[in-house]
Amino acid sequence: MKTIFSGIQPSGVITLGNYIGAMKQFVELQNEYNCYFCIVDQHAITVPQDRLELRKNIRSLAALYLAVGIDPNKATLFIQSEVPAHAQAGWMLQCIAYIGELERMTQFKDKSAGKEAVSAGLLTYPPLMAADILLYSTDIVPVGEDQKQHIELTRDLAERFNKRYGEIFTIPEARIPKVGARIMSLAEPTKKMSKSDPNKKAFITLLDDAKTIEKKIKSAVTDSDGIIKHDKENKPGITNLLNIYSILANKTIDELQKEYEGKGYGEFKADLAQVIIDTLTPIQEKYYNLMESDLLDQVLDEGAEKANKVANKMLKKMENAMGLGRKRKK
Ligand code: AQP
Repeated sequence: MKTIFSGIQPSGVITLGNYIGAMKQFVELQNEYNCYFCIVDQHAITVPQDRLELRKNIRSLAALYLAVGIDPNKATLFIQSEVPAHAQAGWMLQCIAYIGELERMTQFKDKSAGKEAVSAGLLTYPPLMAADILLYSTDIVPVGEDQKQHIELTRDLAERFNKRYGEIFTIPEARIPKVGARIMSLAEPTKKMSKSDPNKKAFITLLDDAKTIEKKIKSAVTDSDGIIKHDKENKPGITNLLNIYSILANKTIDELQKEYEGKGYGEFKADLAQVIIDTLTPIQEKYYNLMESDLLDQVLDEGAEKANKVANKMLKKMENAMGLGRKRKK
């Protein structure tokens, strides 16, 4: 069975973008692959976080993984900071990464743009992400389009390591969905939807209630020509809404364009809001039950135990390959 690894940062409550681009695929993949799903809290601290909020978001993300349908009997769900091998292997990979290639990462450029003080972690987080993936001999990494460049870097680092120190890493491949790989902001449809966007109207979270969803969709930026048509260049707002509608309602863009021919944005938006509410209501019901049960801690404890075993084995191989520490008698 091939292995899958993917992570989500608890840097806020996850959005429809994270769900469509990443999490929705995880549920389908867990039946066919050996899956590791991670709450990458060490990535979240590359930008400032409130400690209480972070703790809340970690727990909430774990409950959301289960609420959308991740089955702990099929997949391993764990928190990154509870598996110290990630940070240790991350350091080793930082030491073979070049500053120039890290500075070229578009996410680093976007997140550091206009900021006076930027943490060193923001620059060096891609090697930590590479460690997350490589520790599990991952074959496939299901991610949204924004993470493609980081997976390319992971492949480069793995190949560099294998060449210098011996073939120990599997070279992973990104798996990016054909539709919905880049859900856009509702406020600025030429920009990616992000859970840490300071403008709360820019995204819908998996925990937004019906009224909030209706309001956010109603205020989503579109255009003034009144035609419901997929046209990324000229109509980015409507195109983004059509993409979300198409994926969640399982209808093609053509079907939707026909269905809404001659109809106004008001009707289209009201129907889309209802589709989102219908998708999120059962997830939210499961989520609130899980948050009150002991199951969550049990799943995360078992996940950490299993992940630590696998990750420590690879860490030892890396240390041996690089010559760290002492040679131990068996
Ligand atoms: N807008 C998006 N459309 C499709 N997929 C997306 N992903 C993120 N945004 C979109 C995918 O979601 C997974 C988890 O992302 P992450 O939490 O690890 O970090 P991110 O990519 O930086 O996501 P955000 O929401 O933009 O977080 P913040 O605001 O903290 O930076 C990844 O597979 C990602 O591709």
